[in-house]
Amino acid sequence: MTISKKISNICCIGAGYVGGPTMAVIASNCSDIKVKVVDVNPNRIADWNSSNLEELPIYEPGLKEIIAKVRGKNLFFSTDIENSIREAQIIFISVNTPTKTYGKGKGMAADLKYIELCARKIAEVATEEKIIVEKSTIPVRTAQTIKTILENTGNNIKFQILSNPEFLAEGTAIEDLQNANRMLIGGDNSTKEGQDAIACLSSIYERWLPKERIIKTNVWSSELSKLTANAFLAQRVSSINAISALCEKTGADIDEVARAIGADNRIGSKFINASVGFGGSCFQKDILNLVYISKSLGLKEVADYWEQVLLINDYQKMRFAENIVNNLFNTVSGKKIAFLGWAFKKNTNDTRETAAMYVANFLLDETAFIHVYDPTVKSNQIFKDLELLSSRTTEENHKLLKVDTDPYQACKESHAVAILTEWDEFINYDWQKIYDNMKKPAFVFDGRNILNSDKLKEIGFKVYQIGK
Ligand code: NAD
Ligand code: UGA
Repeated sequence: MTISKKISNICCIGAGYVGGPTMAVIASNCSDIKVKVVDVNPNRIADWNSSNLEELPIYEPGLKEIIAKVRGKNLFFSTDIENSIREAQIIFISVNTPTKTYGKGKGMAADLKYIELCARKIAEVATEEKIIVEKSTIPVRTAQTIKTILENTGNNIKFQILSNPEFLAEGTAIEDLQNANRMLIGGDNSTKEGQDAIACLSSIYERWLPKERIIKTNVWSSELSKLTANAFLAQRVSSINAISALCEKTGADIDEVARAIGADNRIGSKFINASVGFGGSCFQKDILNLVYISKSLGLKEVADYWEQVLLINDYQKMRFAENIVNNLFNTVSGKKIAFLGWAFKKNTNDTRETAAMYVANFLLDETAFIHVYDPTVKSNQIFKDLELLSSRTTEENHKLLKVDTDPYQACKESHAVAILTEWDEFINYDWQKIYDNMKKPAFVFDGRNILNSDKLKEIGFKVYQIGK
């Protein structure tokens, strides 16, 4: 009997930005399958189970509607990892794989300790054959590590290991999952068991995705494709940001250049929006990982090539921050600067690696006073982000930075307003009112090129946009 005939229970280890939305979409498309999302963090599970849907641990458009529909019916959030593993025929590993902060590969390699812990836990408690699905982003050949652990520490149970990387972007996760461009499944096609496992996972996605969108490859191609996709996307952002610096020196306009090159369908119009720099939990971590793997394999030129994508990103963030200081007459000390936006992009509350925290850190070093307003990010998260940078004491951070819940209050009496996230609501603010309540000359530094600079200039603002 093939395993595909018996899928009634799925378990996902890791209730984060990937595990939560991904399993919610699977549950909503497969009402006959019981989906359990488990996590070691009891607070996170409690938030997922909160009766107040505004308190879900992540903000993602469309998510709470799906959760309202399936939670408690065939989608469950739990800390009972062992029983959930035991019951499931398919186990997704969706835990974090951050950059290592210690030891060999510190600052570059992916830290696989959480993946290893999952493999060991599965080996320890499984009593029947299972399909293990790598959903987390991992270095190429990690499946081998998982396989070795499962085979050497388990109860002699057979496991099939598949790579099924996730390509969702935050802010559009539900749409990306429900209508994925492609679903990638890497597995061992050379054995009957491997073929069955691939077919089994594919049959889940085929419930809502056209079959031709499901791409099947070997495990290593699948693992490497995930890192490559993120590297290519980030490279486009760094490419346009590099050109934005050139625009500022030459009188060319980056939005015009982007429109002109994007009209060539070999280039395409997506991912060429100049910005204050990319953030997010994955671009930097995955490129560092690619650089580390390349170096480890003796491919120095390849490593140097990809590292440049990150160097341009750091350059862009610092260029933006320095430009604020230069324009404010070479000093921001004691001046109030309002930050509109803190999240790494709109429609998410995720702040990991957000450009905002690096720009803020730079300005706080210059002893500026910063007031932040973001529609979804909570105050304690902003201070946690600054703590991560270890640039000053907690007290100093609290003295220099305040978080406002009203954008007009954040901007009041400020010397400059900086746009760090492209939230739609910023576009339609009453900019005349903001101007009237600011110190003069009043500056706007639009790190996302979302505002109408002609209108702002008419009001009286001095406006800086990226690549203009
Ligand atoms: P996250 O930090 O939001 O969530 C990971 C969760 O795993 C945490 O809640 C943590 O408590 C839990 N966890 C860690 N070790 C555990 C263990 N041993 N047992 C049970 N739970 C454990 O991370 P995320 O953003 O969801 O990312 C997960 C993976 O998916 C990463 O590899 C990431 O690169 C990849 N990815 C992320 C995105 C994204 O948009 N965030 C998109 C595609 C892929
Ligand atoms: C990215 C990828 O787009 C997803 O496919 C992938 O699954 C995910 O990483 C992951 O592996 O975690 P995400 O980081 O959520 O998704 O968001 P993106 O839309 O890719 O934006 C990343 C950063 O680039 C943001 O800071 C965004 O503002 C910036 N960006 C994006 C630009 O500055 N310009 C652009 O044109 C596009």
